[in-house]
Order: sequence, then structure tokens, then C-alpha cells
Amino acid sequence: MPLESARPLWASRLGFILAAAGSAVGLGNIWKFPYIAGQNGGGAFVLVYLACIVVVGLPIMMAELMIGRHTRRDAVGAFRQLAGRRSPWLAAGWVSIAAAFLILSYYSVVAGWTLDYVLLSLTGSFTGQSAPAIEALFASLIGSGGRQIAWHLLFMLLCLGIVVGGVQKGIERWSKILMPVLFFLLALLFVNGLLSRGAWEGFVFLFRPDFHRLTWGAVLEAMGHAFFTLSLGMAAMITYGSYLKRSEDLLSASLRVVLLDTVIALMAGLAIFSIVFSVGMTPAGGPGLVFKTIPVVFSQLAGGPFLAIVFFLLLAFAALTSAISLLEAQVAYLIDERGWGRRQATCTLAALAFVVGIPTALSYNLLADWQLIGERSFFDSADLVASNYLLPLSGLLIAIYVGWFWSGTEEKEELIAGGAGWVYPLWHLLIRFVSPLAVAIVLLFKVRETGLFSWLLSFF
Ligand code: PFF
Repeated sequence: MPLESARPLWASRLGFILAAAGSAVGLGNIWKFPYIAGQNGGGAFVLVYLACIVVVGLPIMMAELMIGRHTRRDAVGAFRQLAGRRSPWLAAGWVSIAAAFLILSYYSVVAGWTLDYVLLSLTGSFTGQSAPAIEALFASLIGSGGRQIAWHLLFMLLCLGIVVGGVQKGIERWSKILMPVLFFLLALLFVNGLLSRGAWEGFVFLFRPDFHRLTWGAVLEAMGHAFFTLSLGMAAMITYGSYLKRSEDLLSASLRVVLLDTVIALMAGLAIFSIVFSVGMTPAGGPGLVFKTIPVVFSQLAGGPFLAIVFFLLLAFAALTSAISLLEAQVAYLIDERGWGRRQATCTLAALAFVVGIPTALSYNLLADWQLIGERSFFDSADLVASNYLLPLSGLLIAIYVGWFWSGTEEKEELIAGGAGWVYPLWHLLIRFVSPLAVAIVLLFKVRETGLFSWLLSFF
């Protein structure tokens, strides 16, 4: 095992929490959570989501941080060290890194959209425009491959610039700058939402449970999202855990990260719904909520042009701190397992992610007719494979390994090391039985629902 001093470590506990929260708080919180909550009936969905975060998300996050900290390695190296060179458990590491790679490629394209919208809001493009004209701006963006590729490139360069700086001077330093700014921007929008006419309606919509609208599909969606939003199953938390000091209390660190992630998602939801209701619109707009509905709302509000800038900057910052964790998870693999230098590893992986992201950027224009899995575009196929199959699969493998196969004393010591020994029995129960069962159910349903088997069989 590398010596503790040979490994880069977070300089401070706050630095780790902000970096890990930066990974967790992303487009998922501000873009996806509000619209899936909207589609699935608000309050009841939020309750199920919170339950999933506590019984599935938190225990698996602790398990990932434990694996990383114990082995001081990247995700593949961690399993190699724990389970042996030729162990099938290496698959858990590989699946996580594959997920990180795939997600980064399309996440960066969507992040590019947010940069485009920062520019659109800075130049006042929504001001005084009609709703159809504003909605057409989105169509023109996704209709243009070149424009998306340019933003995608810029975003990858930003990630590269941060990750190349290393753990303390790159990721930690930038998380300490970006996360407080992000929180400030969100607070501005939140207060604005609370003061708007739609505040009460937004609150009721997000928190009043309507169990009639809660379907099994919604429960699965809540579980899947709990995974995505906490950055689980994609090597990010294993890698970030590997830079964590042994003296840190893993429970309290994970709790803070989970709490920040959840509070930010709820604040974003409230801010968005309040202003959407305040102009009499309806929130269930699918992914178009952020890029179509919200700009229309801003065009009708006093102070809208300023709020639009705040909102899209917020999205861009959230995407950036998440994307760097995906890149770092892969960079750590090349450094730890292949002995590459950080600069070389970062540039190579960023270039690869850029290239693989290009078909995503072309999914709504040049390649619109190209269907990969089922009737899905390249973008939808990549998202399907990564978020519906790879994430739950690696989460399942991690939970089973840690719950059942990791030597009984080692994982206990890892928890106790930072002083959270009292939670061990409860955590162990969750990671052995509850989390794997829940994740397995999600995985099975996703495989059935998305027709993976019939698609595979169609080749024979
Ligand atoms: N957690 C991020 C979000 O909610 O948007 C997305 C993400 C980041 C997923 C990092 C996975 C990851 F490793």
C-alpha cells in the first residue's frame, strides 16, 4: 500500500466536503430533480426520494469512501488490492470507471448548453421576446452541432485546467471557490422565489404528498436518481475517499455531503417551482423545463435578465464541480495503475471524453436519424447505459462486496478509525441487506423496462 505521505491528500476537511458536495451537486440537482419531481406528483415522490437517499445512498456513499480511504487507490486499483489481481470483483472498479467515462462525455455537452445560455442571458436574448421565440432558441442550439461542440470543447478545457492542477491545488482550491459562489447564487434565486407570488403554490407542489400519483415507476426513478445525484457507482467517491485523512469521521463527512446535496436540490426545486407558478405556467416540462420554461419565466419577471444570468451561471458551476470528479476518477486510474503523469493522463482523458461527446452533440442534428439502442439517439443511449445499467450495477457490486466479502474487521476498523464506530451495526445491516436488495430491484426493472434483453437478443 502506498504510504500515507506519498498520496496527495485533501488539505482540510472543509476542502473534502466541498469537493465531494461539488461532485454530488450538479445538473442532477438543479435540472433533473425538479422535473422528475414535477412529473411524478411532487410531495410523495420527494418523500420516497429522501428515504432512498438515507437507506441506500448514504450507506453506499460511506462504503465507497471507505474503500477509497482504505486502499488509497483509484477504483480499479482499490478492488485489485482488496480482492486480488484476478478477482472478478475487479469488475466493480471497471464498471464504475466506464460509467464515469461515458457520463463525462455527454454531461459535458449538456454543461455546454448551460454555458451557451449564460451567454444568451448576458446578451439579454430573452428580454422582451415572446414565449415561442424563446423556446426556439433551444431548438436552434440543439439543432447546431458546431455550436454545441464548441461549448463542449470549452467546458472540457475548463475541467482539464482544474484537474491538471492536482488534488489540493486544482480540485480542492476550485471547489472552495466555486461551491460558496454556487450557494450564494442559489440563495439569491431561492429568496427571489420565496418572495414571489407562486411561493406557496411551489411549496405545496413540492411537499404535499399525493400518493395517488406515486407509481412504482416513480419509486424506481427516485432510487435511480438518489444514486446519480450522490455521484455513486462511478468511481468518484472511491477516488475522493482515497485522498481523505484517516482521522476523519466518515459518517459525519458523508452526512454533510448528503445533506448539502439534498438541501440544494430542494432549494432549487422550490426556487424553480415558485417562479414558474408565479407567472401561471406549469412545471412538468421534461428536460425543457430548464432551457425553455425557465427562460420564458425570466422574460416575464421584473429583474428577469439578472436572474437568468444567476441561474445559468449556477447551472454551469454545478456542472463543472461534478465533471471534475468524473475526470479525476479516470485520471487517478491512469496515475495509480499505469504510472502515468497527471498532466499526460488528464489531457488524454479529456481529449477522449471530448471525442466521445461529439456524437452526443450531433444527436439532435446531423445524427438525428441514427438510432443506437432501441429507438434512441446516441445521447439517450449513452445516458441509458450509464445511468440505468452501469451505475446500479457497480453500486450493487460495491454493496455486495463491502457487505459480504470485505474482511469483517477491516471495514469495521475503517469506520471506527474516524470515530463513527457506534453506527457500524446499523450501517452494516443496511449495506448487507437493504441497499443491495433495493439496487438489484432497480436494476432488474430497468433492464426489463428498457428492453435491454430483447435488444441483445435481436442480434442472434
Ligand atoms: N451528481 C451529479 C449530479 O447530480 O448532477 C452528476 C454526477 C457527477 C454523476 C459525478 C456522477 C458523478 F460521478
